Amino acid sequence: MSGLAVAVAHPNIALSKYWGKRVGSGNFPAVPSLSVTLSGLSTRTVVQFDQALSADHLELSGRRADEVAEGRAVALLDRVRQASGIACFARVESVNDFPTASGLASSASGFAALALASARAAGLDWDAARLSDLARRSSASAARSLFGGYVELDAGPPSPTDADTLQARPLAPVHHMPLVVLVCVTTEGAKSVGSTEGMRATLETSPYASAWLDFAPRLHARLRAAVLSADLPEVGRLAESSALAMHASAIAAGVVYWTPPTLAAIAAVKALRESGLTAYATVDAGPHVKVLVARTDADAVGDAMRRVPGVLRVIEARPGAGARCVDGGVAS
Ligand code: DP6
Repeated sequence: MSGLAVAVAHPNIALSKYWGKRVGSGNFPAVPSLSVTLSGLSTRTVVQFDQALSADHLELSGRRADEVAEGRAVALLDRVRQASGIACFARVESVNDFPTASGLASSASGFAALALASARAAGLDWDAARLSDLARRSSASAARSLFGGYVELDAGPPSPTDADTLQARPLAPVHHMPLVVLVCVTTEGAKSVGSTEGMRATLETSPYASAWLDFAPRLHARLRAAVLSADLPEVGRLAESSALAMHASAIAAGVVYWTPPTLAAIAAVKALRESGLTAYATVDAGPHVKVLVARTDADAVGDAMRRVPGVLRVIEARPGAGARCVDGGVAS
């Protein structure tokens, strides 16, 4: 064991959204979700266990992380220490090549990379499923970024305990559909309400919480079938529907992630669709709009989205690989 490992992971975009947790411990989702892991955006994380350290040390993009982020990382490192028997602290350096904590799924790629790098640095030879369970305990969407292509995560058991496990599993490979995801960035800043807090408020106070919990699994089953039959327009329709229902339930709890550019971008996608292009919108816990497009329409849709007022830039992403070790780290 070298004590050091480097991992790269990509964010994923949920087509069928995870929004809401089971009551109980262990961070179990209340609804199933289905995502596509993206290339074109990545997190690179270095973990080194070092006997000279007197505490864990976390740097995000070259800056010491705040207490909340550090606390979440330490909780994951504690699980790795417990499983491996390692007694020393770790230095963690993580760099994203896209805006952090703004609804671009940085916690998904961040915790997937941290789970893999810290487990390997500690000498744990866990497979992707076990690493996925480890990542899920920190951020449920991160469970999906361990795998590439189209990935599914079930809802947790009705009354979970810490002893229960739940991991994502791959559903279809990277080249399954000619999908391009155009990430329309509307702000470079961090979001005001994190997804953990946003979903807690939704389930506790939204008048539409039970409607969402009833709708999400039914939508998920249809979307799963559409992915398996590689029906891209149907996948797009259902993904847009999942995002709109999730935000409707959140907005009714006062959790509003949308800004004027979000609405302008959603309207632009609708207009492009009416003009005959295959384009559908999805939005996570932030103001950015991700447009799901057929590869043949990507240039035309990208040009149109760049002209939408408030869209700062458009990142073209495609289905990509799962988390992996790099730079001489032990292969995942
Ligand atoms: C809107 O995985 O960030 O992106 O488990 O509390 O860390 P925690 O939440 P997180 O929530 C992601 C919410 C979402 C939808 C999704 O990715 O499925």
